[in-house]
Amino acid sequence: MREKVTVLGAGNVGATTAHWLMTRNTCDVVLVDVVEGVPQGKALDLYESAPVSSASVRIVGDNDYAATKGSSVVVVTAGIGRKPGMSRDDLLKVNYDVVSDVVKKALAQSPDAIFITVTNPVDVMTYVTWKATGLAPNKVFGMAGVLDSARFRTFIAMELGVSPKDVVAFVMGGHGDAMLPLTRYSSVGGIPVEKLVPKDRLDAIVARTRTGGGEIVNLLKTGSAYFAPGASTAEMVEAVLGDQKRVLPVVAHLDGEYGQKNIYVGVPALIGKNGVEKVFEIDFTDEEASAFQNSVQGVRGPLSVLGL
Ligand code: NAI
Ligand code: 2OP
Repeated sequence: MREKVTVLGAGNVGATTAHWLMTRNTCDVVLVDVVEGVPQGKALDLYESAPVSSASVRIVGDNDYAATKGSSVVVVTAGIGRKPGMSRDDLLKVNYDVVSDVVKKALAQSPDAIFITVTNPVDVMTYVTWKATGLAPNKVFGMAGVLDSARFRTFIAMELGVSPKDVVAFVMGGHGDAMLPLTRYSSVGGIPVEKLVPKDRLDAIVARTRTGGGEIVNLLKTGSAYFAPGASTAEMVEAVLGDQKRVLPVVAHLDGEYGQKNIYVGVPALIGKNGVEKVFEIDFTDEEASAFQNSVQGVRGPLSVLGL
Protein backbone atom coordinates (compact mmCIF):
# COMPACT_ATOMS: atom_id res chain seq x y z
CA MET A 1 0.00 0.00 0.00
CA ARG A 2 1.25 3.50 -0.81
CA GLU A 3 2.00 5.72 2.15
CA LYS A 4 0.07 8.90 2.79
CA VAL A 5 1.59 12.31 3.47
CA THR A 6 -0.40 15.27 4.74
CA VAL A 7 0.62 18.80 3.82
CA LEU A 8 -0.93 21.42 6.12
CA GLY A 9 -1.32 24.71 4.26
CA ALA A 10 -2.16 24.60 0.56
CA GLY A 11 -0.38 27.84 -0.25
CA ASN A 12 2.68 28.21 -2.45
CA VAL A 13 5.07 25.99 -0.48
CA GLY A 14 2.42 23.40 0.44
CA ALA A 15 1.13 22.99 -3.12
CA THR A 16 4.65 22.93 -4.58
CA THR A 17 5.75 20.28 -2.08
CA ALA A 18 2.72 18.22 -3.13
CA HIS A 19 3.70 18.74 -6.77
CA TRP A 20 7.26 17.47 -6.22
CA LEU A 21 6.01 14.46 -4.23
CA MET A 22 3.50 13.65 -6.92
CA THR A 23 5.81 13.94 -9.90
CA ARG A 24 8.32 11.65 -8.19
CA ASN A 25 5.54 9.13 -7.40
CA THR A 26 6.64 9.26 -3.76
CA CYS A 27 3.32 8.86 -1.93
CA ASP A 28 -0.37 9.80 -1.84
CA VAL A 29 -0.85 13.38 -0.67
CA VAL A 30 -3.60 15.13 1.29
CA LEU A 31 -3.55 18.93 1.13
CA VAL A 32 -5.33 20.72 3.98
CA ASP A 33 -6.07 24.43 4.31
CA VAL A 34 -8.37 26.63 6.32
CA VAL A 35 -9.67 28.38 3.16
CA GLU A 36 -12.59 26.52 1.61
CA GLY A 37 -12.03 25.34 -1.94
CA VAL A 38 -8.30 26.06 -2.09
CA PRO A 39 -6.96 22.64 -1.05
CA GLN A 40 -9.68 20.92 -3.08
CA GLY A 41 -8.98 23.06 -6.14
CA LYS A 42 -5.20 22.76 -6.02
CA ALA A 43 -5.34 19.01 -5.37
CA LEU A 44 -7.76 18.46 -8.24
CA ASP A 45 -5.64 20.59 -10.57
CA LEU A 46 -2.54 18.59 -9.58
CA TYR A 47 -4.36 15.25 -9.92
CA GLU A 48 -5.59 16.23 -13.38
CA SER A 49 -1.94 16.55 -14.42
CA ALA A 50 -1.30 12.88 -13.56
CA PRO A 51 -2.23 11.45 -16.98
CA VAL A 52 0.34 13.70 -18.66
CA SER A 53 3.01 13.64 -15.94
CA SER A 54 3.22 9.86 -15.44
CA ALA A 55 2.19 10.16 -11.78
CA SER A 56 0.40 7.16 -10.32
CA VAL A 57 -0.22 8.53 -6.85
CA ARG A 58 -3.45 10.06 -5.58
CA ILE A 59 -3.82 13.61 -4.34
CA VAL A 60 -6.84 15.08 -2.56
CA GLY A 61 -7.60 18.33 -0.79
CA ASP A 62 -9.85 19.01 2.19
CA ASN A 63 -10.63 21.42 5.01
CA ASP A 64 -11.40 18.50 7.32
CA TYR A 65 -8.62 16.64 9.09
CA ALA A 66 -10.49 13.32 8.84
CA ALA A 67 -9.05 13.05 5.31
CA THR A 68 -5.53 13.00 6.77
CA LYS A 69 -6.09 9.88 8.89
CA GLY A 70 -3.18 7.43 8.93
CA SER A 71 -0.53 9.71 7.43
CA SER A 72 3.10 8.63 7.78
CA VAL A 73 4.44 12.18 7.51
CA VAL A 74 2.83 15.55 8.20
CA VAL A 75 4.38 18.63 6.59
CA VAL A 76 3.51 21.94 8.24
CA THR A 77 3.41 24.99 5.94
CA ALA A 78 0.26 26.65 7.34
CA GLY A 79 0.63 30.20 8.53
CA ILE A 80 0.66 33.77 7.38
CA GLY A 81 3.34 36.02 5.99
CA ARG A 82 4.24 39.38 7.50
CA LYS A 83 1.67 42.06 6.61
CA PRO A 84 2.16 45.87 6.58
CA GLY A 85 2.15 47.25 10.13
CA MET A 86 2.86 43.85 11.64
CA SER A 87 5.99 43.41 13.74
CA ARG A 88 8.07 40.24 13.70
CA ASP A 89 6.72 39.50 17.18
CA ASP A 90 3.11 39.92 15.98
CA LEU A 91 3.81 37.45 13.18
CA LEU A 92 5.46 35.11 15.64
CA LYS A 93 2.36 35.02 17.83
CA VAL A 94 -0.03 34.50 14.92
CA ASN A 95 1.98 31.61 13.49
CA TYR A 96 2.44 30.17 16.99
CA ASP A 97 -1.36 29.95 17.29
CA VAL A 98 -1.78 28.51 13.77
CA VAL A 99 0.97 25.90 14.09
CA SER A 100 -0.05 24.79 17.60
CA ASP A 101 -3.62 24.32 16.40
CA VAL A 102 -3.01 22.52 13.09
CA VAL A 103 -0.41 20.08 14.39
CA LYS A 104 -2.69 18.96 17.23
CA LYS A 105 -5.51 18.32 14.78
CA ALA A 106 -3.18 16.38 12.49
CA LEU A 107 -1.72 14.36 15.35
CA ALA A 108 -5.20 13.28 16.45
CA GLN A 109 -5.63 11.59 13.04
CA SER A 110 -2.06 10.30 12.65
CA PRO A 111 -0.50 9.57 16.05
CA ASP A 112 2.45 7.71 14.51
CA ALA A 113 3.40 10.41 12.00
CA ILE A 114 6.73 12.18 11.67
CA PHE A 115 6.27 15.98 11.55
CA ILE A 116 8.33 18.23 9.28
CA THR A 117 7.78 21.93 9.95
CA VAL A 118 8.39 24.62 7.33
CA THR A 119 6.38 27.62 8.60
CA ASN A 120 8.55 30.59 9.60
CA PRO A 121 10.31 31.42 11.78
CA VAL A 122 11.05 27.75 11.21
CA ASP A 123 13.46 27.02 14.08
CA VAL A 124 10.90 28.41 16.53
CA MET A 125 7.88 26.83 14.80
CA THR A 126 9.59 23.42 14.86
CA TYR A 127 10.01 23.81 18.61
CA VAL A 128 6.32 24.83 18.79
CA THR A 129 5.37 21.70 16.80
CA TRP A 130 7.35 19.55 19.23
CA LYS A 131 5.73 21.12 22.30
CA ALA A 132 2.20 21.10 20.85
CA THR A 133 2.35 17.47 19.73
CA GLY A 134 4.23 16.18 22.77
CA LEU A 135 6.06 13.78 20.44
CA ALA A 136 9.55 12.44 21.00
CA PRO A 137 12.04 15.03 19.68
CA ASN A 138 13.33 12.74 16.92
CA LYS A 139 9.84 12.62 15.39
CA VAL A 140 9.70 16.38 14.86
CA PHE A 141 12.16 18.35 12.74
CA GLY A 142 12.21 21.31 10.40
CA MET A 143 13.15 22.24 6.85
CA ALA A 144 15.64 25.05 6.27
CA GLY A 145 19.16 23.68 5.92
CA VAL A 146 18.37 21.62 2.83
CA LEU A 147 17.06 24.79 1.15
CA ASP A 148 19.85 27.08 2.39
CA SER A 149 22.44 24.46 1.37
CA ALA A 150 20.79 24.08 -2.05
CA ARG A 151 21.15 27.83 -2.52
CA PHE A 152 24.78 27.72 -1.34
CA ARG A 153 25.51 24.81 -3.71
CA THR A 154 23.82 26.59 -6.61
CA PHE A 155 25.86 29.78 -6.06
CA ILE A 156 29.13 27.78 -5.94
CA ALA A 157 28.11 25.95 -9.13
CA MET A 158 27.28 29.28 -10.81
CA GLU A 159 30.70 30.66 -9.82
CA LEU A 160 32.58 27.69 -11.29
CA GLY A 161 30.28 26.86 -14.20
CA VAL A 162 29.84 23.28 -12.96
CA SER A 163 26.80 21.09 -12.28
CA PRO A 164 25.15 21.90 -8.90
CA LYS A 165 24.90 18.10 -8.50
CA ASP A 166 28.67 17.89 -7.97
CA VAL A 167 28.77 20.53 -5.24
CA VAL A 168 28.65 19.24 -1.66
CA ALA A 169 28.14 22.02 0.86
CA PHE A 170 25.98 22.65 3.87
CA VAL A 171 24.64 25.38 6.10
CA MET A 172 24.10 25.24 9.87
CA GLY A 173 22.43 27.43 12.47
CA GLY A 174 19.13 29.27 12.51
CA HIS A 175 17.27 30.03 9.26
CA GLY A 176 18.11 33.74 9.22
CA ASP A 177 20.82 36.14 8.15
CA ALA A 178 23.13 34.77 10.88
CA MET A 179 23.10 31.23 9.40
CA LEU A 180 26.47 29.55 8.95
CA PRO A 181 27.41 28.38 5.42
CA LEU A 182 30.48 26.21 5.99
CA THR A 183 32.99 26.71 3.19
CA ARG A 184 35.58 24.62 5.07
CA TYR A 185 33.35 21.55 4.67
CA SER A 186 32.40 22.26 1.03
CA SER A 187 33.75 20.49 -2.03
CA VAL A 188 33.23 20.19 -5.77
CA GLY A 189 33.63 16.69 -7.16
CA GLY A 190 35.68 15.92 -4.01
CA ILE A 191 37.97 18.98 -4.38
CA PRO A 192 37.82 21.42 -1.43
CA VAL A 193 35.99 24.53 -2.61
CA GLU A 194 38.57 26.77 -0.89
CA LYS A 195 41.12 25.50 -3.45
CA LEU A 196 38.87 26.42 -6.37
CA VAL A 197 37.27 29.75 -5.46
CA PRO A 198 39.22 32.81 -4.20
CA LYS A 199 38.39 33.95 -0.65
CA ASP A 200 36.73 37.22 -1.66
CA ARG A 201 34.39 35.38 -4.05
CA LEU A 202 33.62 32.73 -1.43
CA ASP A 203 32.82 35.49 1.10
CA ALA A 204 30.39 36.98 -1.42
CA ILE A 205 28.76 33.55 -1.96
CA VAL A 206 28.38 33.09 1.80
CA ALA A 207 26.76 36.52 2.11
CA ARG A 208 24.39 35.79 -0.79
CA THR A 209 23.41 32.46 0.77
CA ARG A 210 22.58 34.15 4.09
CA THR A 211 20.19 36.52 2.34
CA GLY A 212 19.00 34.02 -0.27
CA GLY A 213 15.39 34.03 0.96
CA GLY A 214 15.29 37.83 0.95
CA GLU A 215 16.73 37.95 -2.58
CA ILE A 216 13.72 36.00 -3.88
CA VAL A 217 11.26 38.11 -1.85
CA ASN A 218 12.77 41.29 -3.33
CA LEU A 219 12.35 39.90 -6.83
CA LEU A 220 8.84 38.49 -6.39
CA LYS A 221 7.60 41.47 -4.33
CA THR A 222 4.45 39.57 -3.24
CA GLY A 223 5.50 36.47 -1.33
CA SER A 224 8.54 34.29 -0.85
CA ALA A 225 10.27 31.36 -2.54
CA TYR A 226 8.44 28.09 -3.09
CA PHE A 227 10.01 25.96 -5.85
CA ALA A 228 13.27 25.26 -4.01
CA PRO A 229 11.53 25.11 -0.59
CA GLY A 230 9.02 22.60 -2.01
CA ALA A 231 11.76 20.46 -3.55
CA SER A 232 13.79 20.56 -0.32
CA THR A 233 10.79 19.50 1.75
CA ALA A 234 9.97 16.68 -0.67
CA GLU A 235 13.54 15.40 -0.39
CA MET A 236 13.17 15.22 3.39
CA VAL A 237 9.82 13.43 3.14
CA GLU A 238 11.41 10.87 0.80
CA ALA A 239 14.28 10.33 3.22
CA VAL A 240 11.77 9.36 5.92
CA LEU A 241 9.40 7.26 3.80
CA GLY A 242 12.25 5.36 2.15
CA ASP A 243 14.25 5.03 5.41
CA GLN A 244 17.08 6.41 3.28
CA LYS A 245 19.53 7.25 6.10
CA ARG A 246 20.31 10.54 4.36
CA VAL A 247 22.71 12.99 5.97
CA LEU A 248 20.91 16.31 5.66
CA PRO A 249 21.07 19.64 7.47
CA VAL A 250 17.75 19.91 9.31
CA VAL A 251 16.23 21.86 12.18
CA ALA A 252 16.77 19.28 14.91
CA HIS A 253 16.36 19.12 18.66
CA LEU A 254 19.60 19.55 20.59
CA ASP A 255 20.05 17.95 23.98
CA GLY A 256 23.65 18.79 24.77
CA GLU A 257 25.06 18.58 21.24
CA TYR A 258 27.14 21.67 20.39
CA GLY A 259 26.76 22.64 24.07
CA GLN A 260 23.07 23.51 23.49
CA LYS A 261 19.98 22.17 25.19
CA ASN A 262 16.24 22.64 24.81
CA ILE A 263 16.39 24.19 21.37
CA TYR A 264 15.69 23.35 17.73
CA VAL A 265 18.27 24.66 15.25
CA GLY A 266 19.96 23.64 11.98
CA VAL A 267 22.55 20.86 12.26
CA PRO A 268 23.59 17.91 10.08
CA ALA A 269 21.55 14.82 10.94
CA LEU A 270 20.82 11.27 9.85
CA ILE A 271 17.27 11.06 8.50
CA GLY A 272 15.38 7.78 8.24
CA LYS A 273 12.04 6.22 9.14
CA ASN A 274 12.38 7.33 12.78
CA GLY A 275 12.94 10.95 11.77
CA VAL A 276 16.17 12.37 13.19
CA GLU A 277 18.13 9.21 14.03
CA LYS A 278 21.40 10.96 14.92
CA VAL A 279 22.80 14.48 15.16
CA PHE A 280 26.33 14.82 13.81
CA GLU A 281 28.70 17.04 15.77
CA ILE A 282 31.38 18.58 13.59
CA ASP A 283 34.53 20.44 14.65
CA PHE A 284 34.38 24.22 14.53
CA THR A 285 37.15 26.79 14.36
CA ASP A 286 36.80 29.50 17.05
CA GLU A 287 35.26 31.80 14.45
CA GLU A 288 32.70 29.18 13.35
CA ALA A 289 31.85 28.31 16.96
CA SER A 290 31.14 31.93 17.76
CA ALA A 291 29.06 32.38 14.55
CA PHE A 292 27.02 29.26 15.45
CA GLN A 293 26.51 30.53 19.00
CA ASN A 294 25.36 33.89 17.65
CA SER A 295 22.91 32.16 15.30
CA VAL A 296 21.52 30.03 18.14
CA GLN A 297 20.96 33.18 20.21
CA GLY A 298 18.87 34.50 17.33
CA VAL A 299 16.54 31.52 17.82
CA ARG A 300 16.42 31.76 21.63
CA GLY A 301 15.17 35.38 21.43
CA PRO A 302 11.80 34.64 19.77
CA LEU A 303 11.39 31.48 21.85
CA SER A 304 11.56 33.63 24.97
CA VAL A 305 9.08 36.13 23.45
CA LEU A 306 6.66 33.16 23.31
CA GLY A 307 7.56 32.17 26.85
CA LEU A 308 9.06 28.86 25.65
P1 NAI B 1 1.19 30.98 1.62
O1 NAI B 1 0.61 32.20 2.23
O2 NAI B 1 1.19 30.82 0.14
O3 NAI B 1 0.50 29.69 2.24
C1 NAI B 1 0.16 29.54 3.58
C2 NAI B 1 -1.15 28.79 3.63
O4 NAI B 1 -1.46 28.49 5.00
C3 NAI B 1 -2.33 29.58 3.07
O5 NAI B 1 -2.97 28.86 2.02
C4 NAI B 1 -3.25 29.76 4.26
O6 NAI B 1 -4.63 29.76 3.94
C5 NAI B 1 -2.86 28.54 5.10
N1 NAI B 1 -3.29 28.66 6.49
C6 NAI B 1 -3.23 29.75 7.31
N2 NAI B 1 -3.76 29.46 8.50
C7 NAI B 1 -4.16 28.15 8.44
C8 NAI B 1 -4.76 27.27 9.36
N3 NAI B 1 -5.10 27.67 10.59
N4 NAI B 1 -5.04 26.01 8.95
C9 NAI B 1 -4.70 25.59 7.70
N5 NAI B 1 -4.12 26.39 6.79
C10 NAI B 1 -3.86 27.65 7.16
O7 NAI B 1 2.69 30.91 2.16
P2 NAI B 1 3.87 30.00 1.57
O8 NAI B 1 4.65 30.77 0.61
O9 NAI B 1 3.29 28.69 1.19
O10 NAI B 1 4.77 29.81 2.88
C11 NAI B 1 4.27 29.05 3.97
C12 NAI B 1 5.19 29.21 5.17
O11 NAI B 1 6.46 28.62 4.89
C13 NAI B 1 5.49 30.68 5.55
O12 NAI B 1 5.55 30.79 6.94
C14 NAI B 1 6.86 30.90 4.94
O13 NAI B 1 7.57 31.95 5.55
C15 NAI B 1 7.50 29.56 5.20
N6 NAI B 1 8.66 29.21 4.40
C16 NAI B 1 9.67 28.60 5.05
C17 NAI B 1 10.78 28.19 4.37
C18 NAI B 1 11.87 27.49 5.11
O14 NAI B 1 12.97 27.34 4.58
N7 NAI B 1 11.62 27.00 6.30
C19 NAI B 1 10.94 28.43 2.94
C20 NAI B 1 9.80 29.06 2.33
C21 NAI B 1 8.69 29.44 3.05
C1 2OP C 1 13.14 31.42 2.32
O1 2OP C 1 14.27 31.24 2.78
C2 2OP C 1 11.20 32.77 3.08
O2 2OP C 1 12.31 31.32 4.58
C3 2OP C 1 11.98 31.55 3.26
O3 2OP C 1 12.92 31.52 1.10
